[in-house]
Amino acid sequence: MSTTISKTGVRELATVTPGRPASDGDGVRMTRIIGTPELNMLDPFLLLDAFGSDQPQDYIGGFPSHPHRGFETVTYLLAGRMRHKDNAGNEGVIEPGGVQWMTAGRGIVHSEMPEQENGLLMGFQLWGNLPARAKMTAPAYQEYPPAGVPLEQRENGTQVRVVAGITSAGTVGAVNNDWVTPTYLDVTLPAGLAFEQPVGTGDNAFLYVIEGALTVGAAPQPLAQGMLGILGPGDRVRVSAAEDARFLLVSAQPLNEPVARGGPFVMNTREEIIQAFDDYRNNRF
Ligand code: CO
Repeated sequence: MSTTISKTGVRELATVTPGRPASDGDGVRMTRIIGTPELNMLDPFLLLDAFGSDQPQDYIGGFPSHPHRGFETVTYLLAGRMRHKDNAGNEGVIEPGGVQWMTAGRGIVHSEMPEQENGLLMGFQLWGNLPARAKMTAPAYQEYPPAGVPLEQRENGTQVRVVAGITSAGTVGAVNNDWVTPTYLDVTLPAGLAFEQPVGTGDNAFLYVIEGALTVGAAPQPLAQGMLGILGPGDRVRVSAAEDARFLLVSAQPLNEPVARGGPFVMNTREEIIQAFDDYRNNRF
């Protein structure tokens, strides 16, 4: 099941998906973009949820205590505040522009709850898989407040928030990863401007349009607000803003390993999933 991409050139838009409405945790409404029947995964990315609502009933239930094993969760907030708490005694509040990169490793039990009773809550949770050799590593956090996420301001008005990876201008992201080393950029691009970013030839890469509209590739194809665009082979991404736009650009090397999923656990084999449920039930997390 090798899916290695090795062509050079500008990446064209290969697939576009809007995701589908979903509910998770205690009734939190969101759009599930990766991790759906249409797009089960984009190796090493297992899930991408976009949430954004100013209606408290859409988010107030939050995500009460639940376990994870075998992968990493990346929570990036655009608006509102979320409090997390875990069984290892860690606790904190994620704020707009802040990021929490959690390596669940061999297991963590945590809650993720809105730190607000009204107003807009908006952001993303991305799940990145861990390689087999790291699935049982010790749990770890990297957490950065908004000021800890490098902001690259370009003369033409383009802004790049560098959660992870390195931009073409050399700005290095906040997150340092031991296992999988994704690029995760939040780009604000004024209308009419172009943005280009090198990506590894072997990487899987996607764009998600938060606001506005883009055209993508050397033979430009439109990508509208709320759409995920998976990019084809190449060594760089080129987009233009059809109108003032804000988007995510995320890429990483695929693991090309077997994936066994069981709810909040993602391992390599069915037996490891059964073991994870057994360990969780018997308080071995
Ligand atoms: Co969680």
